Amino acid sequence: MEASKDVLTCAKDITKDYQVGKSTLRVLNEINLEICRGEILMILGPSGAGKSTLLHIFGLLDTPTSGHVVYEGENLSQLSPRLQAEKRNKHFGFVFQFYHLLPDFTALENVMMPRLIERRRRPLHHDDKTGLERAAEVLDRVGLKDRSHHRPDQLSGGERQRVAFARALINEPAILFCDEPTGNLDTRNSREIQDLILELNTSNNQTFVIVTHDENFAELGKRRIRMVDGRIVDHASTVPQKGERG
Ligand SMILES: Nc1ncnc2c1ncn2[C@@H]1O[C@H](COP(=O)(O)OP(=O)(O)O)[C@@H](O)[C@H]1O
Ligand SMILES: [Mg+2]
Repeated sequence: MEASKDVLTCAKDITKDYQVGKSTLRVLNEINLEICRGEILMILGPSGAGKSTLLHIFGLLDTPTSGHVVYEGENLSQLSPRLQAEKRNKHFGFVFQFYHLLPDFTALENVMMPRLIERRRRPLHHDDKTGLERAAEVLDRVGLKDRSHHRPDQLSGGERQRVAFARALINEPAILFCDEPTGNLDTRNSREIQDLILELNTSNNQTFVIVTHDENFAELGKRRIRMVDGRIVDHASTVPQKGERG
């Protein structure tokens, strides 16, 4: 008998079309994909394959043309934008290739940003004790305690990406969506990010969905999928998928 899988989130018949002039461009074609709690899933494939679009749809940053996303058994695609935003902020973390930090704010303030958005109150400043403490804690976690008051332009690429990870982690998301997180980093910084991902996955059981072009980085995932032209064309596992980990 097959061990039951602990599915955290899944895509059900996801299709995404763009209207370009008079023609329809199909960017995702009936994607079905389950992501299990605690796994690291790597998504590979050429540029334009639909990897970012799929990641954005899973993360509720974009909406499918048809199909839906089921997270912890709940169909999220039918929720109102406000409830989707709540879900996203509470359960999901995002890391992008070019960091997307706010240039005028310090590392600490950037990391606190999801908390501030969540509470939709008070202009930015440091009377938010729990947010502040938590931001300091996650900055420490990514090894940047002594860079708290640096602005992004005073940090290296690797440090910026670690700030972005700290920001993604502040609300303790169950799942992190990373779109080419090492795409702009040299080998050493890329390694550090990979170590951080493994560490978070192992010690917090956080789930990762990671898009990358780097075949070596892709080895980090126990499961890899390859996309071409809006379809999943290849699945590879280094271990049998058993779902839950111990
Ligand atoms: N707003 C848009 N309008 C039309 N086409 C788009 C739009 N956004 C993305 N695309 C197209 O969708 C396809 C998939 O894009 P994307 O998901 O970013 O691919 P990948 O991340 O695999 O490189 C590409 O061909 C891209 O040109
Ligand atoms: Mg992309």
